[in-house]
Amino acid sequence: MLSSVRFRWGVSVTRKYSKARSSAALKALSKVEVGQVMDFTSDFPVVIEKASGAAVIDVDGNRYLDMTSFFGAALVGHRNPVVLGAIRRQLGRLLHGMGDVHPPAVKAKFLSKLAKRMPAPDYKGLLSLNGSDAVETALKFATAATKKAGIIAFKGAYHGLTGGALEVTWNPVFRSQFQSTLAGRGRFVPYPTDHETAAKVLEKVEQIASSGEVGAIIIEPILGRGGIKVPPPGFLSDLAKLAARHNLVFITDEIYCGAGRTGTYLASDIEGLAPDVICLGKALGGGMPLSACMMRPWVADAVHGASHEAVHTSTFLGHPIACAAGLGVMQALDKGLAGRAAQIGGLITNKAQEWQQKYPVVLEIRGRGAMIGIEMAPGVASQVVAIALRKGVMVLTEGVSNETLALMPPLVITDRELNRALNIIESAIVESQKSLIIT
Ligand SMILES: Cc1ncc(COP(=O)(O)O)c(C=O)c1O
Repeated sequence: MLSSVRFRWGVSVTRKYSKARSSAALKALSKVEVGQVMDFTSDFPVVIEKASGAAVIDVDGNRYLDMTSFFGAALVGHRNPVVLGAIRRQLGRLLHGMGDVHPPAVKAKFLSKLAKRMPAPDYKGLLSLNGSDAVETALKFATAATKKAGIIAFKGAYHGLTGGALEVTWNPVFRSQFQSTLAGRGRFVPYPTDHETAAKVLEKVEQIASSGEVGAIIIEPILGRGGIKVPPPGFLSDLAKLAARHNLVFITDEIYCGAGRTGTYLASDIEGLAPDVICLGKALGGGMPLSACMMRPWVADAVHGASHEAVHTSTFLGHPIACAAGLGVMQALDKGLAGRAAQIGGLITNKAQEWQQKYPVVLEIRGRGAMIGIEMAPGVASQVVAIALRKGVMVLTEGVSNETLALMPPLVITDRELNRALNIIESAIVESQKSLIIT
């Protein structure tokens, strides 16, 4: 397949798409990596060699525009120069610290800058490496604050796959093989996307809260892996008020939608909330493993050290390189990138609305800022992902049945690159629609 793509690395190139090296590397990897990690066919995936800005190159030299930010982490672009500069400076000083004993200086700097972005001045944070870690922290501290194990969570929610987080991750695919280890802490209610459902969900939540068995509510302000779903205006505020009335810890999981992805620093900022706990990850470290659990004092102070031990900590807590990268991310956002999310969202939404008029397989457009989901007829989104890859665009699906095409580009993507990527995605939609009609 020949296609012409313009990238920042080099001018417009016409190339032949090849997968020889990727295929060989995938075969070799499959011999040494646990099987369930990666599912590969002759078409998908590719093995990545390098990435810069919104451009990616695989080991065969094929070039792609990135509409995924690599699971959302490269929000400020791959190898953003500001982030790279911060990492390089830190590399010259300290590679690894002693997080909870002799903390690296950069940890304090990072945490105080992050705390300033929180919706109230009294948040305290605990750093970790992955989103799941931040959720573990949130659930442990919430339990310590309320002494109650039950947690109200939402159908479709994804909060991570470690033991505690799995209690509130909904999809049975992730849970069923470990069911015997789960304590059944999650009480799942529907994630509402309209006012009518929202009213019913609030009633249900009120009912569960009144049982006295739950101590917390955890919600993604925009449901990410569950299909990029946005709750109706006012729902998050109503939920927060309900939590406060019942002394429940109100936890927002902003790991996917937060840290500048949707046009405000936190996705819940548009409702003016100050949740008891806010989990951040993915984009926070600009590609370095970094997550944070930010807590109001009544939760943050509920766990205390005992017998000279920090009772919730880890070896790499406050990793200096990740903290330096995190400072770089905030600097990059402040240098003008923050405003880009809304522009990107506008461009994608306009284009997706045109598609909705033209192609019956395009069912619904959802999301905010640089986090837009396009729900498609069954089977189509996955085909679009595979076809777009061959044509030079990396895009992924979200949703329990992979029904939603998730458009999550890095904020550094130019309008030209974005339009190019959208045109390629459109041609992939046309192609997959044709194959649907034939079969
Ligand atoms: C909302 C949300 N929470 C938590 C997680 C888990 O993060 P991680 O995969 O870094 O452990 C994810 C990952 O996709 C997520 O989207």
